[in-house]
Amino acid sequence: MNIREVATKSFDDQKPGTSGLRKKVPVFQQPGYAENFIQSIFDALDGFAGTTLVIGGDGRFYNREVIQTAIRMAAANGFTTIIVGRGGILSTPAASHMIRHYGAFGGIILSASHNPGGPTEDFGIKYNISNGGPAPEKITDAIYARSKTIDRYLTIETPDIDLDQDGETQVGDAVVRIIDPVADYAALMETLFDFEAIRALIGGGFRIAFDAMSAVTGPYATEILERRLGAPAGTVRNGTPLPDFGGHHPDPNLVHAKDLYDEMMSADAPDFGAASDGDGDRNLIIGKGIFVTPSDSLAMLAANAHFAPGYAKGLAGIARSMPTSCAADRVAEQLGLPLFETPTGWKFFGNLLDAGKATICGEESAGTGSDHVREKDGLWAVLLWLNILAARGESVHAIAEAHWRRFGRNYYARHDYEGVDSARADALMADLRNHLPTLRGTAIGALRIEAADDFAYHDPIDGSESRNQGIRILFEGGSRIVFRLSGTGTSGATIRVYIERYEPADGDLGRETGDAIADLIVAAEELAGIARHTGRAKPDVIT
Ligand code: G1P
Ligand code: ZN
Repeated sequence: MNIREVATKSFDDQKPGTSGLRKKVPVFQQPGYAENFIQSIFDALDGFAGTTLVIGGDGRFYNREVIQTAIRMAAANGFTTIIVGRGGILSTPAASHMIRHYGAFGGIILSASHNPGGPTEDFGIKYNISNGGPAPEKITDAIYARSKTIDRYLTIETPDIDLDQDGETQVGDAVVRIIDPVADYAALMETLFDFEAIRALIGGGFRIAFDAMSAVTGPYATEILERRLGAPAGTVRNGTPLPDFGGHHPDPNLVHAKDLYDEMMSADAPDFGAASDGDGDRNLIIGKGIFVTPSDSLAMLAANAHFAPGYAKGLAGIARSMPTSCAADRVAEQLGLPLFETPTGWKFFGNLLDAGKATICGEESAGTGSDHVREKDGLWAVLLWLNILAARGESVHAIAEAHWRRFGRNYYARHDYEGVDSARADALMADLRNHLPTLRGTAIGALRIEAADDFAYHDPIDGSESRNQGIRILFEGGSRIVFRLSGTGTSGATIRVYIERYEPADGDLGRETGDAIADLIVAAEELAGIARHTGRAKPDVIT
């Protein structure tokens, strides 16, 4: 076979972030840029000769080109089975499942998640390990170290693979298998959920609106919601993955999925609205007339998961990222389940899931998932909601209100200050950190501070420590403010302020969120001096 060793010059900016390497497309188009990073992945791994690699992406601009590159390089480096989603398509959760299902050594996923796509927009490459989850820091550090010294990569001379035809092609010593990106994932969903009950619900006139945002979830949602569950054609909107996501930002929040939100708040709204992001791991849930915050969604799914066959035996535990509201804690408390509070980022859930300590996990940033894969999973959350709605025969609104009456309500919002000068953002955090020891027992208006710290996580499975994961101000009565800097931004710093008021079950559960947290917003400014440090009078984005 024609393996070629190609000389290359290293790049100094290939440090993987929270979720792989993300850069603008023109950066990835530099000669050798994608090749260097892919070779650095392989060079950082051990013992994969003769094993299987899964490759797929979210369909964004440059996806097909890099898939051809990755196939050639995987074959040249010694993988002997290369499984590729037809059309180069694999959602992040489907890729995670395929790695597990086929016992692959790992997978390369091409995605920049919810970031825009197109010739001048974002592209990304991430590596997932054999449990189906994102590579841990030990591996991403090794990839980065290798990328700084790399001077050659291996490829193989072969014509482009036809990505659009299922089948097998021999490339060197490797077999490249193009397979249906949806079938295995859809089959997994059928093992978890009561498809018959959901079909009956839909058959009875229950209306769903699903916005795939012209991103990867389209084919998955169309197969599952329309073909297998019988929802009428057109239930899935923007269902064809487009290289530029139709010029939109494939981020399922109230800003970028505003059309769906407006429709769900209208008089003739469908019963259930949902959306997913670029690579299919995030979800947005909106009932008729009610938006369910991701933190509440996690708590409500955990409290009702036993209605789905896959979770009928109950949960081993619930895990949430630290800034995610404490609504899930109330559920864990009442159900007598362990609750794990981890730093931001899905990778911290992997150990808990592998060890069987947690069954359901979630983040306030619209990520929810379970031990069925090792990534968050947008469509999974939608199907669990539908299963619960079918089993309970109540509306989203009724389920949410009953939940709050049982567990209390965590009014919650996140305020983002984007593109802040990094030095100023660091100064704000440093100031806050310096004040931490003096805050306990002091009051801001009617709010009394019970504890204040810089969150550190001790992984109960591998014993690793992660420090400086965000500043927590905890008030008496269960309200909180959290300050942290984003780890995924590309320009300047993003300051995230997470604000939460706990209202007990017998309290006022029907307030507007903005009103319910107004005094905490004032307290956040008083504590951190956001205006003084950044010159900003208000946040850029509120979610
Ligand atoms: C953001 C979210 C976080 C999520 C990550 C990757 O990270 O806040 O929950 O895991 O994207 O999708 P951040 O920018 O806050 O570091
Ligand atoms: Zn995503």
